[in-house]
Amino acid sequence: MATALVTGGTSGIGAAFARQLAARGTDLVLVARDQKRLDAMAAELHSHSGINVETIAADLADASDAARVAARLEDPAHPIDLLINNAGSGVREGLTSTDLSHHEHAFNVMSRAVFVLGAAAGRSMRGRGGAIINISSLQTYLATGSYAAVKAWVTAYSESLAVELRGTGVTVTVVLPGWVRTEWHERAGGRRSSIPAFLWTEPDAVARIALRDSERGKVISIPTVRYRVLGWFARHLPRRAIRRISASITSSRGDGIGAARSSEHPIVKADGER
Ligand SMILES: NC(=O)c1ccc[n+]([C@@H]2O[C@H](COP(=O)([O-])OP(=O)(O)OC[C@H]3O[C@@H](n4cnc5c(N)ncnc54)[C@H](OP(=O)(O)O)[C@@H]3O)[C@@H](O)[C@H]2O)c1
Repeated sequence: MATALVTGGTSGIGAAFARQLAARGTDLVLVARDQKRLDAMAAELHSHSGINVETIAADLADASDAARVAARLEDPAHPIDLLINNAGSGVREGLTSTDLSHHEHAFNVMSRAVFVLGAAAGRSMRGRGGAIINISSLQTYLATGSYAAVKAWVTAYSESLAVELRGTGVTVTVVLPGWVRTEWHERAGGRRSSIPAFLWTEPDAVARIALRDSERGKVISIPTVRYRVLGWFARHLPRRAIRRISASITSSRGDGIGAARSSEHPIVKADGER
């Protein structure tokens, strides 16, 4: 029987992955910070599907906690067949903020831990086979601050890992969702109401399409046709247009990124391209 390790498996997209995998009879290792929610999720999955569920309470912003999860991925006595690097949260602070803690936290959870766990899974699965799914975001193509930069890293990293592991029996899929109806938005403190209703995706759809694309060996997975079309435009529009769209998304969600703009370049006074 296969075993999957899902980070952030207690809520939103991670919980949808956990429920769909449990329904297929896959044993699970769930990782998140809140032990009570981990216990509740484990009990629900075990009673509905009869699978074995292990939980690891770990803060992936913490290097020693991430190392503990990596050690579990490399445990030869209990092999993991699928790693889903999903845990994450939003960052609203501007890039010129004096307080770097939110940026560092985002980087540690969504880049550093993804890197550490991806490396452990790659080492352990090489030869015997396996799959890695990393959750990025369509913001990978935008200029919407620290979060977009971190997710751009996840996308480039995942494609590179797919190249490095080609031919080893390990597939790597990076998932680029648009807006998904989860707790993420409340936690990030954004205004959900500013996002048009037709742009929302359900976490179940994201997980289902990602698992299908992983099984097909696809490297980039964009859930739903609507976002595949938007993703095409995001990749092909001139970057100047993308920066304008990014500015309007940033101001509509009510944070300060990009709000202060000087009208003139301090050295080149002529109005140059921005
Ligand atoms: N929702 C969207 O619109 C959207 C769009 C594109 C991409 N994404 C990405 O999708 C992924 C999942 O987000 P979601 O929307 O499902 O969010 P969510 O509902 O807030 O769930 C986040 C999960 O990650 C866990 N987590 C958060 N910080 C953690 C940490 N430091 N260490 C360990 N676990 C942590 C949370 O559990 P604990 O709090 O108990 O730790 C929870 O299980 C994230 O990477 C997010 O950036 C979301």
